[in-house]
Amino acid sequence: MAALRALLLPVRRALRPRPGCPARRPFASGAGFEYIISEKTGKGGSVGLIRLNRPKSLNALCDGLITELNQALDAFEVDPAVGAIVLTGGEKAFAAGADIKEMQSRTFQDCYSGTFLGHWDRLARVRKPIVAAVNGFALGGGCELAMMCDIIYAGEKAQFAQPEILLGTIPGAGGTQRLTRAVGKSLAMEMVLTGDRISAQDAKQAGLVSRIFPVETLVEEAVRCAEKIASNSKIITAMAKESVNAAFEMTLTEGNKLEKKLFYSTFATADRKEGMTAFVEKRKANFKDQ
Ligand code: HXC
Repeated sequence: MAALRALLLPVRRALRPRPGCPARRPFASGAGFEYIISEKTGKGGSVGLIRLNRPKSLNALCDGLITELNQALDAFEVDPAVGAIVLTGGEKAFAAGADIKEMQSRTFQDCYSGTFLGHWDRLARVRKPIVAAVNGFALGGGCELAMMCDIIYAGEKAQFAQPEILLGTIPGAGGTQRLTRAVGKSLAMEMVLTGDRISAQDAKQAGLVSRIFPVETLVEEAVRCAEKIASNSKIITAMAKESVNAAFEMTLTEGNKLEKKLFYSTFATADRKEGMTAFVEKRKANFKDQ
């Protein structure tokens, strides 16, 4: 009972009305959000699709947008039909960064003693795989948000940058850490210290992006990838994601140890048995997420 209650907590939180806002219906398309559009797509509604939708501000990441994004993520995280998530923006901008107008008058005391950025890392803690589909600008916090996802697909005109230095500040949502791990020290330093943008092609060459598609087909391709991921066993997928992510946190020896434990754990699941039996019987596996 306690476990069930813990599982439902994020949904209850998402549904709780906030002052001035209508009650949320996170499973419904659109769901009354102001800054994002959240819907289910793909075969059997297996893909949660979240579009950042604040086009007049190039999807600048205001506090309300991040709050809504987190609510949509919470809902998809506990939705048993959803096996993977796609996060995208518009054709001109994935997101042009944290909302500079909202940050302009903040003081150090506000930042340090308040909860500023406290809710920005929800995306990085989602257990289901997330594909970022980046068209246009992914700048500052926008680039950081994309890097919190598991896979980045880019439209051929996408541009990535950490331009905070030009505003007299530095990246604050993982930009100096995730970018350095993705592209190496020299390019990360160049981007963080100059604020210069890199193209989708350069981002792919550097390992930040795994594939590039035409602008119009990008989201469709990202959904196709998410759908493929969602067709596998959800429990095994979660183990695979956990194991890859451990490579960013652990030594090689520790990481290999964790991988081995998780590998052995797959043998406690019905889906591992089904996957191998299906191969031997020359048929498609029918995973039950057990
Ligand atoms: C608030 C923003 C914004 C932002 C764009 N806008 N980026 N508002 N915060 N990050 C708004 C503009 O003010 C403008 O609103 C509208 O979006 C359209 O932008 P334009 O500048 O007119 O468009 P364009 O000339 O095409 O230039 C696009 C752009 C430029 C190159 C992306 O907007 C730009 O440089 N934006 C800032 C990028 C940036 O510095 N990002 C990092 C933010 S700091 P109006 O009302 O004038 O029409 C950050 C820190 C993260 O992300 C730390 C952890 C969270």
